[in-house]
Amino acid sequence: MAANIKVEVCDSAEAVASMAAAKFADLVRAKANAVIGLATGSTPEQTYAELAKMHRQQDLSFAAVTAFNLDEYWGLDGDHDQSYRHFMNSNLFDHIDIRPWNTHVLNGKAVNPALECAGFEAKILSVGGIDMWLLGIGPNGHIAFNEPGSPVDSRTRLVNLTQTTIDANSDGRFFKDASEVPRCALSAGIGTIREARSLVLLATGSKKADAIAAAVDGPFSPDCPSSMLQDHPDCTFIVDAEAASGLKR
Ligand code: F6R
Repeated sequence: MAANIKVEVCDSAEAVASMAAAKFADLVRAKANAVIGLATGSTPEQTYAELAKMHRQQDLSFAAVTAFNLDEYWGLDGDHDQSYRHFMNSNLFDHIDIRPWNTHVLNGKAVNPALECAGFEAKILSVGGIDMWLLGIGPNGHIAFNEPGSPVDSRTRLVNLTQTTIDANSDGRFFKDASEVPRCALSAGIGTIREARSLVLLATGSKKADAIAAAVDGPFSPDCPSSMLQDHPDCTFIVDAEAASGLKR
């Protein structure tokens, strides 16, 4: 399959963050009530810091924006310091003027996970779909918590995390020990993500080089979930030179 993925290679992680923040700022300036999709993890932290700075210094307003997050650990309360709700509040939402009721992060303590996931999908539909979704990528090619083997038409659901992901998230950046990492998560599906009108995936560092190469130059396959973005009509990967180092072009 001829890959549609547009790849922007930047000199540094800072440049990746600036380009990503500019894309979201342009969207929000052009469409005040934009619906944005967001990700957690180390990679987007600087992008969020940039957006918060643009809010402070350039009057970039998120007052009419609606946001949906990719995923949440199953079993963690939003107040838990490793929950993705907590991450989003402390890295972005608390620093901009987005209305709290317009921020949607799946509830990791929902009584009925299937109902929680169906409600999340229904909310996305009710606001007209997602204009632009920010993504990260796991060393195994996962997007959100869609691990290898996830179907192209998967929807928001309760999933198991692989050992690779558990290890990646307990390397000292987030959880201190693998035993602390939840084994399951609620995650938007590949099908859910593919319905966003525009996708922006960020990757920095050599640990992501194999995943980026497989996503862009490898076959369209559930073996590398991010490769299933290849036929998306508007998908941009913004990467630094290290993450780009395995690419053919
Ligand atoms: C987080 C998410 C994950 C991360 C990925 C990369 O919401 O959906 O897919 O984007 O695991 O994480 P970092 O950026 O920490 O390397």
